[in-house]
Amino acid sequence: MSLDELKRQAAEQAAALVQSGMVVGLGTGSTAVHMVRAIGRMLADGRLQDVVGIPTSEATAQEARRCGILLTTFDQHPTIDITIDGADEIAPNLDLIKGLGGALLREKIVAAVSKQMVVVADHSKRVAKLGTRAPVPVEVIPFAQRPVQTYLELLGARVVLRQKEGQVFQTDEGNLILDCHFAGIDDPAGLGQAIRQQPGVVEHGLFLGMASRAFVATESGVAVLE
Ligand code: A5P
Repeated sequence: MSLDELKRQAAEQAAALVQSGMVVGLGTGSTAVHMVRAIGRMLADGRLQDVVGIPTSEATAQEARRCGILLTTFDQHPTIDITIDGADEIAPNLDLIKGLGGALLREKIVAAVSKQMVVVADHSKRVAKLGTRAPVPVEVIPFAQRPVQTYLELLGARVVLRQKEGQVFQTDEGNLILDCHFAGIDDPAGLGQAIRQQPGVVEHGLFLGMASRAFVATESGVAVLE
C-alpha cells in the first residue's frame, strides 16, 4: 500500500467523526487534504449538512472551496467543534511536532480554540521521543531572523532557514521558518517555553497536550490512539 493510500485511510476514518452542523478546523498537508475531500464528498451526497470550516492555510482554504465546503471565521464561529490535522511527529502521549508544511501558526490558533483536535497520519510519523525524526519549525518575523537563529543555536539546535524551490520560504503571514534540528527532545514543554521567550518568535511547532486522538494508518489497519 502506498503512503498516500495510508494517509487517505486515516483521514477518511477521522472525517467520519464530523457531524451535521459542526464547525470544523481544516488542517493542512498531504494527509489533511484527504479529510477535506472526504468532508466535501459527504456534503455533496447529503450525508452531511450545515458544516462550516475554518482553514489552517490558504492552500487548505482553496481546496475546501473547490470541494464545496463553506468557510467561516472566528467572528462568526469563535469555537470549533473538531479540528482534524496532520502531524510530522506523534509521541506516545500524543504530543506533536507540526509545521513541515509551513502552516503551524494558523494550525495552532485553530487547535487552541477546538473542543477536540484529532490527528491523522501514516505510521511513519510515530516516534518514541519528539525531535528524533523531524525538526521543530519556529516561525519568526523576518526582521528578527538573525538574533532568533543565534538564540535557537544556544538552545542546542542546528538551525536551517526553510527554503522552497530555491527561494526563502514565506508563511501565509509573511514570516520565515527556522527549522531546528535536535537529537531528541528530553523536555518538550521546557523547550517550547524557552523558544517563546525570544522576541521575534511568533510560534513554534511543538503542539503539547492539544491532540486528544490520533488515527494512524498501518498496513494492517488504522490504529486509534487516545
Ligand atoms: C502543516 O504545516 C503541517 O503541520 C502538517 O500538518 C504536517 O506537516 C503533516 O503534513 P503531511 O500530512 O503532508 O505529512
